[in-house]
Amino acid sequence: MAEGKCPVVHNVASGGTKITDWWPGRLRLNILRQQNAVSNPLDRDVDYRKAFASIDYQQLKKDIAAVMTDSQPWWPADFGHYGGLFIRMAWHSSGTYRVFDGRGGGGQGQQRFAPLNSWPDNVSLDKARRLLWPVKQKYGQKISWADLLLLTGNVALESMGFKTFGFSGGRTDTWEPDQATYWGGESAWMGNDVRYAGASPSDPKAHAEGLETPVAASHMGLIYVNPEGPNGNPDPVAAAEDIRVTFGRMGMNDEETVALIAGGHSFGKTHGAAGGDYQGPEPEAAGLEAQGLGWKGSYQTGVGKDAITSGLEVTWTKTPTHWSNKYLEYLFKYDWELEKSPGGANQWVAKTNDLIVPDAFDPNKKLKPRMLTTDLSLRFDPAYEKISRRFLADIDQFADAFARAWFKLLHRDLGPRSLYIGPEAPKEDLIWQDPIPAVNYPVIDASDVANLKKSVLGAGLAPNKLISAAWASASTFRGSDKRGGANGGRIRLLPQRDWPVNNPAQLAEVLKVLETVQAAFNKSASGGKQVSIADLVVLGGTAAVEQAAGQAVPFLPGRADASQEQTDVESAAFLEPNADGFRNYGKSSDRGRTEEQLIDRAQLLNLTPPELTVLIGGLRVLDINYDGSKTGVLTDKAGVLSNDFFINLLNMATEWRPATNDKIPDSYVGFDRATGQERWTASRVDLVFGSQAELRALAEVYASSDGGEKFVRNFIAAWTKVMNADRFDVKV
Ligand code: HEM
Repeated sequence: MAEGKCPVVHNVASGGTKITDWWPGRLRLNILRQQNAVSNPLDRDVDYRKAFASIDYQQLKKDIAAVMTDSQPWWPADFGHYGGLFIRMAWHSSGTYRVFDGRGGGGQGQQRFAPLNSWPDNVSLDKARRLLWPVKQKYGQKISWADLLLLTGNVALESMGFKTFGFSGGRTDTWEPDQATYWGGESAWMGNDVRYAGASPSDPKAHAEGLETPVAASHMGLIYVNPEGPNGNPDPVAAAEDIRVTFGRMGMNDEETVALIAGGHSFGKTHGAAGGDYQGPEPEAAGLEAQGLGWKGSYQTGVGKDAITSGLEVTWTKTPTHWSNKYLEYLFKYDWELEKSPGGANQWVAKTNDLIVPDAFDPNKKLKPRMLTTDLSLRFDPAYEKISRRFLADIDQFADAFARAWFKLLHRDLGPRSLYIGPEAPKEDLIWQDPIPAVNYPVIDASDVANLKKSVLGAGLAPNKLISAAWASASTFRGSDKRGGANGGRIRLLPQRDWPVNNPAQLAEVLKVLETVQAAFNKSASGGKQVSIADLVVLGGTAAVEQAAGQAVPFLPGRADASQEQTDVESAAFLEPNADGFRNYGKSSDRGRTEEQLIDRAQLLNLTPPELTVLIGGLRVLDINYDGSKTGVLTDKAGVLSNDFFINLLNMATEWRPATNDKIPDSYVGFDRATGQERWTASRVDLVFGSQAELRALAEVYASSDGGEKFVRNFIAAWTKVMNADRFDVKV
């Protein structure tokens, strides 16, 4: 090499070797600062809910409906109708939702961005979104892409004769790829078995249940399962086990699952015109001239009859653009024979001479009914079969089940019903919405709040127990699907009151006292005023923080108490944290160290890195560890809201060593360097604020001589944010 000549080999656009290339296990603090104001082009004062309300909604629906049959030469519509394609677009937008962390789903319009825009399962949905661009352009910021993609699914169904259950708008768009969602650890699309623990594929049930948490799809790049069967094995019974697990993780039971698959596949067709490598690169990898589209087909015309999407070539019914129960009828009427699609994929053809299914582009051609392996699961899995036969016998029941399951699919991550907007928002309470009764009594005022604070603080409970209970209640909130939070008072109900992280015995003690205070207040309050336990839990914790801080902490009343009957115990169980660093609860696993799990929870709570930091420092000195331990309580005056945690953590007089006691694997001991005396114990979560460079930088701010007042102020703000995270009733 000539001296002085730079050996440039890097692609500059890639930014060179990144920090995460050198240290892949680095904490992902980036997920706490994504989707912020700098990426959002909309004016700060834009209120999307108001903008949506100003739309001529019926005209919007008409405009969307007009797109359905306005076939474009660059992507001709099958059977002259884009309905099937648009249903699939809406289903794939919302079907990424998973119960464990509430992430995925259609709530942010993420299908526009990587990786979802380029997932193998989303082939051709780039065209679907582009077909909608004129409508999006016409309505501008009055409708988000997130809402438009889902509403279009509804309009598609309605335009083909199906009565939907309703629609609510209200999803605001994001402007960059979401990086918080763990889609799996694979580096290749569609890898087999990578995300399944140990269990042998010869036991399909055990195998399916071994799917890694929190993912809900059987392969990287798929919305749910392989349509050809597990790992391409065309076994409908084994496929059913995969379907049950993956749809279960979407929050759907067997009945909803059958309704969705049978309902969805009553429309449209699959696309696999030919075998071979005819698809160009996906949108993220395609050239500039593709203008964001991908998978350019090179088989003959590449579009229409020559289109390749999944590589399967199936049209399910004789009425692919009209609602009917023909899908279920054929499923049971015919015997099915395995065949290969022109693309070489496993699919099933009816053993019949009935040529009753139309061709998408040739009116003179008729075909035999066909099915995917996963369709046959609805007949050959005994539990699915019962439901399918019931639906076949009663199309109204089928239609109702499909309409409700479809509505749930689209609205699962939109939050409580109080957030629904638009003329088609259904009024019925549905259990999966975690309903909270309306407040139909006068709410406590400022002087009641002052008196109640006195009553609660004077009832003999240790302040840290009150703070723990309030934190336990409010911190269940997750911004991903807007579930959890203090409103509803579900902390006093099953399953929450029994979660180990909540220290059930201590929580019961607090609740008992609060119930006594509530009863006394409600009996004697003037003007029919009442206070809920939901409010009292937060008020108690807030009063105790106020005492510890020596200054006022805001409290916003108006929460209501839900009943046990209004609570789906099984579904609420998904809000239970495996680990909660805020209370030093939980252990590291090979899937995630406790500090990583802390960052994940902080993201669900919509916290920024400084908010996370100040909360940890504050909650430690307030002494609210779930088990009452002194781990990380780096202060000699526990219960006083001071910046001691940071001062002591960063104090070089202490030397930290891993604890030698195997029983506490994640714990550390701090020794006085001068005397060798044990001074503190701490967890990984505690020490990460001194060891991780960015968190340490924040800790330094709070540990500085001018950081004390700021610390208290910031803690109060972050505490108040968490307490009110679910107060959609007052924010909107
Ligand atoms: C199309 C698989 C569930 C609605 C397809 C295609 C596949 C597939 C492979 C063909 C894509 C193409 O080549 O164009 C599956 C599997 C499912 C499932 C494995 C679950 C086990 C659903 C659900 C819905 C749905 C729940 C909606 C409620 C549709 C529609 C089409 C379709 C409407 C036709 C698309 C068109 O006409 O272009 N599905 N699907 N599917 N799917 Fe599904």
